[in-house]
Amino acid sequence: MKLTLLSFFMISFIHFSHSIPQNFTSIFSFGDSLTDTGNFLLSGALTFPSISQLPYGMTYFHRPTGRCSDGRLVVDFIAESQGLPFLPPYLASNQTFRQGANFAVAGATAMNPEVLHDMGISRYIWTNYSLATQLRWFDELKPSLCKTTQECSEYFKKSLFLVGEIGGNDYNYAFFSGKTAAEVTAIVPKVVQAIAEAIQVLVKRGATNLLVPGNLPVGCSSAYLTLFATEEKEEYDVRNGCLKKLNAFARYHNELLQLAMEELRKKYPKTRIIYADYYTAALRFAHAPGHFGFGRGALQTCCGGGGPYNFNVTARCGHPGSHACIDPSDYVSWDGIHLTEAAYHHIADGLLKGSFTDLPLMI
Ligand SMILES: *[C@@H]1O[C@H](CO)[C@@H](O)[C@H](O)[C@H]1NC(C)=O
Ligand SMILES: *[C@@H]1O[C@H](CO)[C@@H](O)[C@H](O)[C@H]1NC(C)=O
Ligand SMILES: *[C@@H]1O[C@H](CO)[C@@H](O)[C@H](O)[C@H]1NC(C)=O
Ligand SMILES: *[C@@H]1O[C@H](CO)[C@@H](O)[C@H](O)[C@H]1NC(C)=O
Repeated sequence: MKLTLLSFFMISFIHFSHSIPQNFTSIFSFGDSLTDTGNFLLSGALTFPSISQLPYGMTYFHRPTGRCSDGRLVVDFIAESQGLPFLPPYLASNQTFRQGANFAVAGATAMNPEVLHDMGISRYIWTNYSLATQLRWFDELKPSLCKTTQECSEYFKKSLFLVGEIGGNDYNYAFFSGKTAAEVTAIVPKVVQAIAEAIQVLVKRGATNLLVPGNLPVGCSSAYLTLFATEEKEEYDVRNGCLKKLNAFARYHNELLQLAMEELRKKYPKTRIIYADYYTAALRFAHAPGHFGFGRGALQTCCGGGGPYNFNVTARCGHPGSHACIDPSDYVSWDGIHLTEAAYHHIADGLLKGSFTDLPLMI
């Protein structure tokens, strides 16, 4: 009895001493437009991208920053929570990256552009800076952060690596290239494999804390609700008005991703490979928008050009014929594809305060 009590206290003590949260000292991030803080804009891929103008950036920065939102993104809220500056985009090469760098690029895919091209998916690709390119950028930067294996291990132990969300565009491009649902479903394992390979590369470079987000409930996005609008009532989820098949598709990606992560955890038991459940965190908005202050429901877009969800493909946010709402915090959807700062803030809180990650985020 005595021994049991003693060991109980010892275990509690050990547990306690490990659970005092410590802030990360740097963050490195990879992904697409959900995470890009300026790379796409700096890449000059388009001469006049809509994100280079207001209303993009209207809420927090009061100027366009290259973020695909009215304000801050999940990665910005995570940086703030750690007392770190917002991650500078890697392509802003005059910056200092000691406290982190953002390699994410709007439009980026998990698979290499050549692979997508071979699958007949290439017409709509906005950027070739896929996950592999972003990892190459990280390797270019690394010698300026740490030299020896020992030094890198010490440095990266206190770093958070955000790997995703990524893969959403591989599917977007496939759907827009006219692939059938069955064809797009068939590429999910390849997308997941590309993400798993990226995680593996980072672990080999010294990453020990990796946060890997899954896909959002794309069936609730006003862009997809508009493009895939149907008279068939049973296609819609009565609980939230979202398209059931597209949400099931996002869940399928997320399931395969979590299975791949489980394998990686077995292979690298000393690393913390954490799943971030963007899907459930964002689906809450569709079920109870008012609870989160979204007075205009979860399916209407703040910045758009008319139509049942205020998403109009010929008058998208930032293009002639569109206009932004007065108060984006009333909306989940910013431009039909991306979320508002208010929505990203709730998702980030869900990750930081624990309920939407499968391991605690903080070290
Ligand atoms: C982490 O950063 C936050 C935000 O700056 C700060 O309030 C908190 O005290 C820091 N925690 C630790 C353990 O340093
Ligand atoms: C980097 O260059 C940009 C544009 O020339 C400038 O606005 C910014 O202040 C520079 N940043 C640093 C840290 O030097
Ligand atoms: C991507 O690369 C392909 C092949 O090199 C090229 O044809 C295409 O224009 C590139 N796309 C962008 C957006 O840079
Ligand atoms: C979509 O935008 C176009 C171009 O501005 C406009 O002509 C059309 O009426 C809009 N559609 C809806 C449903 O508002």
